[in-house]
Amino acid sequence: MKKQYVPSLFSLVPAVAMLLLMVSCDDGPVMPEYAATDAKVVYQVEGRVSGLDTWPANYTIALAAFSNEGDYALYSKPVKRLEGDKISVSFDNLPQEADRVEICVLDRIRQRISTIYELPATAFSETDADTLRINIPDVAASMFDAVQKDVFTPTCSNCHGRSNKAAAGLYLTEGKSYEALLNKPSQVAGGTLVIPGDAENSVLHQVVSSDLTTGWHYDHTKEVVNENTRRLIEQWIVEGAQK
Ligand code: HEC
Repeated sequence: MKKQYVPSLFSLVPAVAMLLLMVSCDDGPVMPEYAATDAKVVYQVEGRVSGLDTWPANYTIALAAFSNEGDYALYSKPVKRLEGDKISVSFDNLPQEADRVEICVLDRIRQRISTIYELPATAFSETDADTLRINIPDVAASMFDAVQKDVFTPTCSNCHGRSNKAAAGLYLTEGKSYEALLNKPSQVAGGTLVIPGDAENSVLHQVVSSDLTTGWHYDHTKEVVNENTRRLIEQWIVEGAQK
């Protein structure tokens, strides 16, 4: 005998709960605002990135999409860490307003702390294939690599070593900066330039985060205004100032 099934309001509750669960799941792609692009291609980004172990757990190494205006990821997906320095991450849709895609370091509120590798927009061109593999070149991306690339090289090395003259004898150029800082005495302020684990008493940290230098031959407070820069240097020292 056939029994007629009449759905009562009550019997719908588990179904609605399931639906809510699925929608609230933090997978990115199921979120409705991440509208799929028309191409149904799975992009798989792979490569070797060294130094990722130096980043503490409050940072995420992710593939992320940004608009040109913002430092906050519109979309992000953590990279998979494979054996050796290998990384892999795949995705199939990006928010439409995304201008740039990067492998990068994000903080807890998905703000970009450091770019590891910027993927050219042409990497995501339409294709007939189901899967498009994108190999990125080898990158060194420890916390210290980020400090060098984001702060020392663009902001400091002009005076500190690029022209073979280094202010206060301090070289902040790539390849020289680490040895020049770690446990080395400060010529100008006394004390020590970088004491692993002790940001507060490290002269480098004081230079970028206090008014220590206002009476020096060069007032460094004009240079370092960026809060992310200050925090990156502080965290690097607190985490043990590893190379
Ligand atoms: C425009 C040139 C200039 C730039 C750019 C510059 N510095 Fe300096 N820096 C100096 C000078 C000059 C001194 C020496 C000051 C003195 O003798 O009073 C100095 C001294 C220092 C010292 C003290 C070294 C010691 O042995 O005591 C540190 C640390 C330092 N700078 C870090 C930085 C960092 C980090 C940056 C980038 C964020 C930077 N500097 C950018 C000119 C510069």
